[in-house]
Amino acid sequence: MPGKEKIQIAASILSADFSRLGEQVEKALKAGVRWIHVDVMDGHFVPNLSMGPQVVRSLRPIADRFGSRLHVHLMITEPDCYLAEFVRAGANSVSVHVETCPHLHRTIQEIHALGARSGVALNPATPLSTLEEILPDLDFVLVMTVEPGFGGQEFIPSSLDKINRLRRVLAERGLDRVSIALDGGIHKQTASAAVRAGANVLVVGSAIFNDQATVAENLRQLRSAIETSPGRTRKGK
Ligand code: DX5
Ligand code: ZN
Repeated sequence: MPGKEKIQIAASILSADFSRLGEQVEKALKAGVRWIHVDVMDGHFVPNLSMGPQVVRSLRPIADRFGSRLHVHLMITEPDCYLAEFVRAGANSVSVHVETCPHLHRTIQEIHALGARSGVALNPATPLSTLEEILPDLDFVLVMTVEPGFGGQEFIPSSLDKINRLRRVLAERGLDRVSIALDGGIHKQTASAAVRAGANVLVVGSAIFNDQATVAENLRQLRSAIETSPGRTRKGK
């Protein structure tokens, strides 16, 4: 279906300056971002520790002032134990890693029962086939385009083929309502190829929160890279 689609940029706060987190998030929201991405790491599933529900709770009122969503990306070994706490803290959507969920159907039902949107994240080496049965139940797929755990890593180029194939599968199965979100290594040089491959949500951390330019300027440059991306012909959400 030809036509320009709206690509969402989700600002990952992992690279923000935590000594002034609220201020940094507000800058992204003022510059038009409507998804704030909160990376939760447990030092087990990924070799890093980050933040918990209290950060979501603190950001909720700021996000509310701009009508923004808070998305929680759980990179933890036992996500089921924390779903309720994160949704109660104010998460609008939660993604769990397929690698951590032996009972994925139940986990996704639980996220919905709590009133949040659900996503499943896939590590770079995890095949799309692991989603075959669960795909119709999801609101989005979070395709990791770096190994999860750290901001500022290089985009893995073979991810583009995976995104392409996922876009095709969604179209073939009449599931275009399922968003494709990418996470990792997205900046003004990689954003265009990611969108062309079929992504409609780009999670961006270090290319938004850095010392090179203001949050607003970084977002302007990212948007301009996306806008000038040739061949965007899908209908987004
Ligand atoms: C990595 C996190 C990402 C991270 C992306 O494990 O899931 O959300 O913040 O950071 P950049 O955009 O710097 O690759
Ligand atoms: Zn993330």
